[in-house]
Amino acid sequence: MCPDPSSQIETVLQEERVFKPSSSIVDTSNIKGLEHYQQMVEAARLNPESFWGEAALKELHWFKPFHTVLDWSNPPFAKWFDGGKTNVSYNCLDRHVKQGLGNKLAIIWEGEPGEVRKITYKELFEEVCRVANGLKELGIGKGDLVALYMPMVPEAAMAMLACARIGAPHSVVFGGFSSEALRDRLNDGEAKAVITADGGFRKDKIISLKNAVDSALENHSCPSVKSVLVVRRTCEEVAFLSGRDYWWHELIPNQSIDCPPEQMDSEDRLFVLYTSGSTGKPKGVVHTTSGYNLWAHLTFKWIFDVKEDDVYWCTADVGWITGHSYIVYGPLSNGTTTVMYEGVPRPSNPGAFWDLIQKHKINIFYTAPTAIRAFMKSGRSIPDQYDLSSLRLLGTVGEPINPEAWIWYREVIGAEKCPIVDTWWQTETGGVMISPLPGAIPTKPGSATLPLPGIEADVVTGDGKTVQANKGGYLIIKRPWPGMMRTVHGNPQRFRESYWEYLNPINGELVYFAGDGARRDEDGYFWIMGRVDDVINVSGHRLGTMEIESALVSHSSVAEAAVVGIPDDVKGESVVAFVSLETGRNSNDELISMLKKHVSQEIGAIARPDEIRFTNALPKTRSGKIMRRLLRALASGEEVKGDTSTLEDRNVLDELRK
Ligand code: WT7
Repeated sequence: MCPDPSSQIETVLQEERVFKPSSSIVDTSNIKGLEHYQQMVEAARLNPESFWGEAALKELHWFKPFHTVLDWSNPPFAKWFDGGKTNVSYNCLDRHVKQGLGNKLAIIWEGEPGEVRKITYKELFEEVCRVANGLKELGIGKGDLVALYMPMVPEAAMAMLACARIGAPHSVVFGGFSSEALRDRLNDGEAKAVITADGGFRKDKIISLKNAVDSALENHSCPSVKSVLVVRRTCEEVAFLSGRDYWWHELIPNQSIDCPPEQMDSEDRLFVLYTSGSTGKPKGVVHTTSGYNLWAHLTFKWIFDVKEDDVYWCTADVGWITGHSYIVYGPLSNGTTTVMYEGVPRPSNPGAFWDLIQKHKINIFYTAPTAIRAFMKSGRSIPDQYDLSSLRLLGTVGEPINPEAWIWYREVIGAEKCPIVDTWWQTETGGVMISPLPGAIPTKPGSATLPLPGIEADVVTGDGKTVQANKGGYLIIKRPWPGMMRTVHGNPQRFRESYWEYLNPINGELVYFAGDGARRDEDGYFWIMGRVDDVINVSGHRLGTMEIESALVSHSSVAEAAVVGIPDDVKGESVVAFVSLETGRNSNDELISMLKKHVSQEIGAIARPDEIRFTNALPKTRSGKIMRRLLRALASGEEVKGDTSTLEDRNVLDELRK
């Protein structure tokens, strides 16, 4: 078990500022005022099953209603809405078209080179049906896993919805991952097909996706993959293997738009999404149909307080859970217009985000603290050149937001009138768990505030006791919720052990441990302190230190490696690797760049170490565990505090200090 996070904070900086929702916001909100929120909390606490059951019947379309709201007879394996039949693509498309929203925009897309596509609900519905029929023609059916390795183009959302339509779970692999990482994920899930593109545009460069797919599949290394469907995006030359590779523009346009949605059981898998944990191997987080759909739908509706004409934009990539829940499923299930942008702010276009907000009159904007910190650094003169008056609500996600960045976001981007929702959640939780509701909950800069109705969160010690106000502890969730992950793909034991048996049961009940440390203040507000396991958060991307270590050790020069995250002004954390070399290998600058490149090839550029330090030996306990705490202190130039008595060889520390 990790060190108790309470030992990590001795003094706590108290943030005194409180921002109450303005009366104009309260008046127009769905959930009005603290009392309304508290009523919902109370209703969900007294009778969670009727609370969630009513919500599921009201918010989703059912081919057949469920007979049981929650089956928790075999914890931690939950069944939600058992007996019910539904289809997520129906909830995102058909029902809106049937209700007369066919001509409303579903997606506004902008490519990095600047082209714009606007797609109505009817057009999206028809295209999804064509793609679904195309997948069927490739032999894909209910239960077959389909991997997506895509740039941020509308076809990515279409492919996800088409999979959902025919009951084929998807596994989206972020386009920035390497071919090695893609191969591992294809094999772990035994994907039957891959949907990709020739390439994508990012930071004024072309990312060659099809080439990476080809290398992942080389020498029959992914025997389950039978076909590859390729969107033409960059028009660069790509190799084509006949009988395996198909162009989207040749296969899809001729398909029929008649594709009845598969009637899915509530607990049928909707998708698998890989995320990093404390071991070297990423885990496939499994989400299922109805519970996930309800959670993405309801949280989106509550937190962003959507109105009929809203244009909403989340800057994430569909390769992450944020893209799944808050670019695709949450907004579309609510019939909202969702913006997709292929690019990122870059030296050739530092105002890219603000330009998009001005051009498409975006009302709700959801991004990551690392982006806000980068904007702060380059100064307000850039956003000040744009008309951002359409904005009504701002959100952040992915990592703790420091109060200065929060205030800057509010003043410079939100003109002091937009509420800020700091949303805490994880791949595993399916959707947001702790967040302000804009018309109900006063905000404090840097706090994700209070749990959503129905979520019982707490901060506890290692033996399950609630800690005092303002003391650090483990962040836990006490009851199952509809959007919770159901298992780790192919490894239920790992699901049980890493999340539900990490801490001891409280009052005989299993509790969910999120991997984060937190404190609660005297008002019960949650302040997330970051991961307490061997996971680091670089620019809102979650990286397992052991994954990076495995990548380093796979290089022939490296004997041993230890990776830590140290604080970084913009990225939140940066990656520092301590490496000991095989005898006879020389440490030099060339090797440093080779090792950095090697990690990019093994995992992807997001995992590339910022710094590599060579050492003869790593500090270990007598039982052989690397003492990362010491390395973290050394790397960030702090004094090594705390107990070093378990250190096997104290000379190692002296050597490292040098
Ligand atoms: C980890 C989950 C949730 C989608 C994006 C990341 C950190 C996330 C916050 C926040 C403080 C946050 C946590 C969490 N995190 N949101 N608002 N405040 N920390 O999803 O890759 O599964 O990472 O991100 O450490 O455990 P993910």
